[in-house]
Amino acid sequence: MLKRIAVKDVRMGMFITELCGSWMEHPFFKTKFLLEDKQDLDSLLKSGIKEVWINTTKGLDADEIVPGKTLSDIELETELMLRDTLRVKSTEKTSMDDEVRIAQKICSKSKAAVISMFNDARMGNAIEVAQAKELVEEISESVLRQPHALISLARLKNADEYTYMHSVAVCALMIALARQLNLDEELVRESGLAGLLHDLGKMGIPNKILNKPGKLTDDEFNTIKSHPEIGANILMDNPLVSAMVLDVVLHHHEKVDGSGYPHKLAGDTISLFAKMGAVCDVYDAITSNRPYKKGWSPAESIRKMAEWSKGHFDEAVFQAFVKTVGIYPTGSLVRLESGRLGVVTEQSETSLLTPKVKVFFSAKLKTPILQETLDLAKLIGKEKIIGRESPDDWGFRNLDELWSGL
Ligand code: C2E
Ligand code: SIN
Ligand code: FE
Repeated sequence: MLKRIAVKDVRMGMFITELCGSWMEHPFFKTKFLLEDKQDLDSLLKSGIKEVWINTTKGLDADEIVPGKTLSDIELETELMLRDTLRVKSTEKTSMDDEVRIAQKICSKSKAAVISMFNDARMGNAIEVAQAKELVEEISESVLRQPHALISLARLKNADEYTYMHSVAVCALMIALARQLNLDEELVRESGLAGLLHDLGKMGIPNKILNKPGKLTDDEFNTIKSHPEIGANILMDNPLVSAMVLDVVLHHHEKVDGSGYPHKLAGDTISLFAKMGAVCDVYDAITSNRPYKKGWSPAESIRKMAEWSKGHFDEAVFQAFVKTVGIYPTGSLVRLESGRLGVVTEQSETSLLTPKVKVFFSAKLKTPILQETLDLAKLIGKEKIIGRESPDDWGFRNLDELWSGL
């Protein structure tokens, strides 16, 4: 339907079909377009044009503006909706190398944003959820272009930045897992937001406990166990936070055998999203250097999680997770049949068992060899992975340079 509306009522996401007034006055070469660029809206407002025609079948309608929401909420939501429809166009696949460079920027920007958001929580200020949603959107697009770049980068963190980068990592993992589970893009984003905010309640825990280098006393661990409820309380009254996000914040430490906290929920009384949160949380925790423990290599971590998975995780969710990150996730140290050691640099599209591997060391000769990237999917019958190795056992320190190029 076509509607004539005042320029002051024009919003992002409307489809403009005609600008009323002389064509010489207006700044647009195009006269029919989906308003998706904030600058176009600004120019329109400044152009002197008083009215436009919009086509409500191709864009937002004038009365889809909900009272009570602020303009920036609506603009953000619209922008998210638009990006969703433009997703296929705007997110062509990138090479791993290219995406690593992009993801590096997104990671440092995200870390800064999470620090400021979590500090707001610590000081009792409101959380900027709208800003968090924008961040989730950017992370989501990177993961869509090339899932393993940001996911693998976010794993690399110093113990002192753990809580913040862990939030970014769990956000990215939740997004990839949600897509693996074929959830709607709307739920994919919600999963990401839940990941970003899941440990917000740790801001209510004294740093002395959080950053304690060693094992916690029972008292200290009981204090830590209050973080899901603290987080949920902070977010409870925020209109931009859905029940699903709150549920993940509150229940990411529940276990399917009923031994988790805070509510000792068991089996399917735990929501799908909280089960996803549990798997993503533990994977990033154990693959990271934390104040109290050094991280394990990604492939070792997947193997350990498979061993624990019975009481802790939902089996189907864990399996989907393994399909998402790989049996030999990017960055894993593996031994090949030929006796060479290498680092997984990229996942294969055909099988979890045949990633690309950069070989750099002879296990037999115990000496470095000429580095070379092998595509195991193309070497079936000639070369294969026969096991995972612990970088610590070999004393390798710079494995991550090999896959990230950084
Ligand atoms: P986190 O470090 O982010 O760990 C999140 C969850 O990952 C843990 O929840 C646990 O389920 C899993 N996880 C982490 N490391 C290991 C591990 O070495 N083995 C196994 N089996 N699972 C692991 P959990 O246990 O409820 O701990 C919640 C939070 O309490 C942790 O979050 C961390 O902040 C803190 N925490 C737990 N243990 C210690 C500790 O010994 N020292 C310190 N300083 N903090 C600890
Ligand atoms: C119209 O609806 O009037 C035309 C819009 C268009 O050009 O696509
Ligand atoms: Fe937690």
